[in-house]
Amino acid sequence: MTIYFIDGKFTDKDQLNISVDDRGYYFGDGVYEVVKVYNGELYTAEEHFERLLQSAAKIKMTIPYSQQQLIEIAKELVERNKIDTGHIYLQVTRGASLRIHQFPDPSVLPVVTAYAIPNERPLKNMAEGVSAKFVEDVRWLRCDIKSLNLLANVLAKQEAFEDGCAEAIFVRDGFVMEGSSSNMFGVKDGVVYTHPATNLILNGITRQVILKLCSEIGIQVKETAFTPEDALKMDEFFMTSTTAEVTPVILIDGNQIGSGQPGEITKKLQEAFSRQMPVFEKQ
Ligand code: PDD
Repeated sequence: MTIYFIDGKFTDKDQLNISVDDRGYYFGDGVYEVVKVYNGELYTAEEHFERLLQSAAKIKMTIPYSQQQLIEIAKELVERNKIDTGHIYLQVTRGASLRIHQFPDPSVLPVVTAYAIPNERPLKNMAEGVSAKFVEDVRWLRCDIKSLNLLANVLAKQEAFEDGCAEAIFVRDGFVMEGSSSNMFGVKDGVVYTHPATNLILNGITRQVILKLCSEIGIQVKETAFTPEDALKMDEFFMTSTTAEVTPVILIDGNQIGSGQPGEITKKLQEAFSRQMPVFEKQ
């Protein structure tokens, strides 16, 4: 039995009652978060739910729960579903009402839906690296909002998959932005490069953890946009996300990056990342 959370209640998945008039269906009108669970404990939950509240505010939506209440919901899902390693998915839509573009009457409340599922760490990809493909970024100009509107991301990821790649790398106006569901980093002469956290990318929680770890370890970081040509000349390349953690990118558009193997700085960051997970704290 899988227990979901919807509208204030914990319910068996088979008993869920979701309105076909939900604005999530009609417009993708909502926001979401993915939070990792390691060893039965939420990882960086405060940061994720703070970003959720910020995303909601940016689309002028008020979530009927506080950051702490959202954490409690996520914790209860982990417990009820007995999740050891996995993740929480939580989304909030602007509620259910007849299809009109403008916001519904204030009496229509946002709908919060969440679940927890088991999901192993991507250890093989982390050890061996993956290939990626450049795709034109045709998204809107508010990529800093973790919106449910992911059609351009879906199409980009599919294009990458059809080319045998694990991820699509968005390129806008000649610069590398981020992945379809990850942030991108290059390493050149010991310096880590990544796109600055502007409106054109999502400021990933994993990205923020990695930047902090770089500063702790003494790895220099430059939050500067770089071109696809620069990317191909990097010594190392990697992507980060809640589910991908720190995954080396060893091939882009069929071109080998550096030695074609996961690089030394990438491996150092993978180790540093693993060391600060709840799974390590408990050992
Ligand atoms: N995606 N950029 C985009 C466009 C993303 O969708 C994501 C995460 C990230 C990385 O953010 P974080 O480190 O906070 O997970 C960057 C999630 C995992 C998803 O949609 O499944």
